[in-house]
Amino acid sequence: MKTYVFLLVILKVSGRIRFSTAENPCCSFPCQNGGVCMTMGHDNYLCDCANTGYYGDYCETATFWQGLKNLLRPHPDTTNHLLTDPGYKWIWDVINNIPFLHSVLMRLIYLLRAEMVDSPAVYTSAHTYVTFEAAANTSYFMRGLPPVPTDCPTPMGVAGKSELPDVDYLVERLFRRHTFTAETYGSNLLFTFFAQHFTHMFFKTDVNRGAGFTWGGHGVDVSHIYGPEKDTENKLRAFKDGRLKTQTINGEEWPPLISQSPVKMLYPANVPREKQFAIGHEFFGLLPGLFVYATIWLREHNRVCDVLKSVHPEWDDEQLFQTAKLVILGETIKIVVEDYVQHLSRYNFKLTFEPELLFGQSFQYQNRISVEFNHLYHWHPLMPDRFNISGRLYEMPEFLFNTDVALEHGLTTMVDSFARQPAGKMTYHNHANVTLEVAKDTILQGRQLRLQPLNEYRKKFRLHPHTSFGDLTDDREIAEDLERLYGDIDAVEFYVGLMVEAHRPNSMFGPTIIEVGGPFSVKGLMSNPICSPKYWRPSTFGGDVGFDIIKTASLKKLFCRNLKGECPPVSFSVPMATDPVSQCEDEDCLKVEL
Ligand code: HEM
Ligand SMILES: *[C@@H]1O[C@H](CO)[C@@H](O)[C@H](O)[C@H]1NC(C)=O
Ligand SMILES: *[C@@H]1O[C@H](CO)[C@@H](O)[C@H](O)[C@H]1NC(C)=O
Ligand SMILES: *[C@@H]1O[C@H](CO)[C@@H](O)[C@H](O)[C@H]1NC(C)=O
Repeated sequence: MKTYVFLLVILKVSGRIRFSTAENPCCSFPCQNGGVCMTMGHDNYLCDCANTGYYGDYCETATFWQGLKNLLRPHPDTTNHLLTDPGYKWIWDVINNIPFLHSVLMRLIYLLRAEMVDSPAVYTSAHTYVTFEAAANTSYFMRGLPPVPTDCPTPMGVAGKSELPDVDYLVERLFRRHTFTAETYGSNLLFTFFAQHFTHMFFKTDVNRGAGFTWGGHGVDVSHIYGPEKDTENKLRAFKDGRLKTQTINGEEWPPLISQSPVKMLYPANVPREKQFAIGHEFFGLLPGLFVYATIWLREHNRVCDVLKSVHPEWDDEQLFQTAKLVILGETIKIVVEDYVQHLSRYNFKLTFEPELLFGQSFQYQNRISVEFNHLYHWHPLMPDRFNISGRLYEMPEFLFNTDVALEHGLTTMVDSFARQPAGKMTYHNHANVTLEVAKDTILQGRQLRLQPLNEYRKKFRLHPHTSFGDLTDDREIAEDLERLYGDIDAVEFYVGLMVEAHRPNSMFGPTIIEVGGPFSVKGLMSNPICSPKYWRPSTFGGDVGFDIIKTASLKKLFCRNLKGECPPVSFSVPMATDPVSQCEDEDCLKVEL
C-alpha cells in the first residue's frame, strides 16, 4: 500500500527520485525552469515539473511547444539591446507611429512581463513550500523564490562558505562612495525623489514584525498622498469641495502642519512642532525632495477637485474627493509608465499606459509586493552628498528633516534646482555616507529572509547565471574581493550582486535589476483596479473631463500647472545645452483645460 501511494506520487509529478548526500537535498536548487523541489524522505527529492512546459528529472527538457516558444522569444539581453541601442532608434521611430503595430507590441510587453509574476502569490518568507497563507495573509510581502531551507550546509544552500562575509567590510569595500559618480545618462534629482516618493507608498517593511512583513497595501494605492488608512485621510481632508487641507506660507500653498492635521509623522525630537508638516506618508518629512512631491500632488488634487466641481456642481464633498482621488491615482500610473519607466528603461520604443490593451486577455487584476522587489529598489546610490539649491549648497545633514529649505526657496526654485542636479550612478562605490547604514541593513535583512543567491534569481528571470566573478562585475578589485569572500559565484547574495553587477550598454541599472524589476513593476501598475474594465471608463473619473486629465497627464503638466512663475525645465534628465529654453513650447502644458 505504502509503495503504491509512493509510486502514485512519483507518476503524478512526473519526475524521478534523486539521491543526494546533502542534509536537505533541495539545498542545491536542483530543479530547473520553475520546477518545484519537494523532499521525499530524509535524503531524496523530486522535481515537480507540472505546468512549467518542461519535463525530465530536473525539469531540464522543454516540451515541443515550450521549445518553440523559447525559440521565438529572444534572450532578455537581445531584447534589451534591440530596444535601447541607438542604432535601432529609427526602426522604433517608425513602429511608434504605426498604431496597430505599437499596440500589438505594447500588449506583448504587458503580458510577457506580467506573466513572470506569480498571481496569486504562492510563497512568503515564512515557508520554503507553498501555503494557503501565502495567498491569503497580506501582512507578508510575497516572494518570487522561496527562502533557502534552514537545514542546508551553507547559508546560500550548498554553494560557498559556511559563513557569509562580514557586512561592515562589504559595505566599506563595495558600497562607500569616495568620489561622486554621476548617473551616465543624465538622470537628475527630480528622478531620484520621484523614485523614492512613488515607491514608498508600497515598500513599507513592518520592522516590528520582521523583514518579511509589510504594513502597506500591495500596489499603487496613493497612500503616500492620502495616508495609510481612513483616519489619516480624514485628518488630511478639508471636507469642502473634495479638497485636501493646505496652508499658505510666503504666498504659496503647502501641506498643513500636524497641529492642523494631527496625523502620525516621524520627525526627530529636534524638529519643532510648528515645522512638522502633515503628509500622507509618515517618513516624508525626511527630505525636502519628498516634501516637494507631496506638495505638488496636494496642489494637483485640489486643482482636479475644482475642475470636477465646475462640471459637477451637483456633487457633494465626498463624491468630489473620491473621484479626484481616482483621477490622481490614474495620473500617477500614467506618469510612472510614460515618463518614469520610459526614462529609466531607456527604451526607444514608446511606452504607453493603455489598460484597454489587456481587456479580454488572461490577466489577473490583483497584485502583491514582493520582498525581492523591495530590496532591488534600494536605489540609494542615486542620492548625492550635497544639494545645490539655486547656487546654495546644503550638505546632507543640513538637508535632512529641513522643510525650511523648500519654504525659503519656494517650490519653483526647488524643482528647477532638482532638475539641474545630476543623480548618482546606480553602482558600487557610490553610496552617500548617510545611506551606508541602510545598505548594511538591507544585506542583513536579506540574510534573515534567507533570500536565494543572485544566480537563482537570474535563472528564474531568464538570464544566464554568472559563471565567474569577472562575469558578474567589471571592477577587477571587487571581483577578486568577492571571490575571496564568497568562494563561489553561486553563493553571491542578491543585493550585493545587484549593486556590483556590470551594466549592459545603454542601461541605468545592472541587468538583474532590470529583468527582475520589470515584471514586478509592469504587473503592479497594470493590475491596479482602475485598469479593469468596470473602472476604466469615463464615468469613474467624473466623465470625459477626468478621464482626459488621466489620459493626457505628464510629469511636465503635473508641475507646470501647479507652480508659480515660469515653469522650470521639468524632466527626469538634467537639461542639455541643446534643449529648447522653454520646455512648454510645443505643449499646452500651462493651459488648464476644462
Ligand atoms: C538621502 C536619501 C535617503 C535616505 C536618508 C534614506 C534612508 C532610508 C532608511 C533609514 C530606510 C529604512 C531602512 C532600514 O534601515 O532598514 C530606507 C529604506 C528604503 N529606501 Fe531609502 N533613503 C534615501 C533615499 C532613497 C531613494 C532615492 C530610494 C529610491 C527608490 C530609496 C529606497 C528605499 C527603499 C525601497 C527602502 C525600503 C523601505 C521599506 O521597505 O520600508 N531610498 N531608506
Ligand atoms: C498573518 O501572519 C502573521 C504572522 O504569523 C499573524 O500574526 C497574522 O495574524 C496573520 N494575519 C492573518 C490575517 O491571518
Ligand atoms: C549650483 O547650481 C548653479 C545653477 O543653479 C550653478 O551655476 C553652480 O555652478 C552649481 N554649483 C555647484 C557647486 O555645483
Ligand atoms: C560620514 O559619517 C561619519 C559618521 O557616521 C562621520 O564621522 C564622517 O565624518 C562622515 N564623512 C563624510 C565625508 O561626511
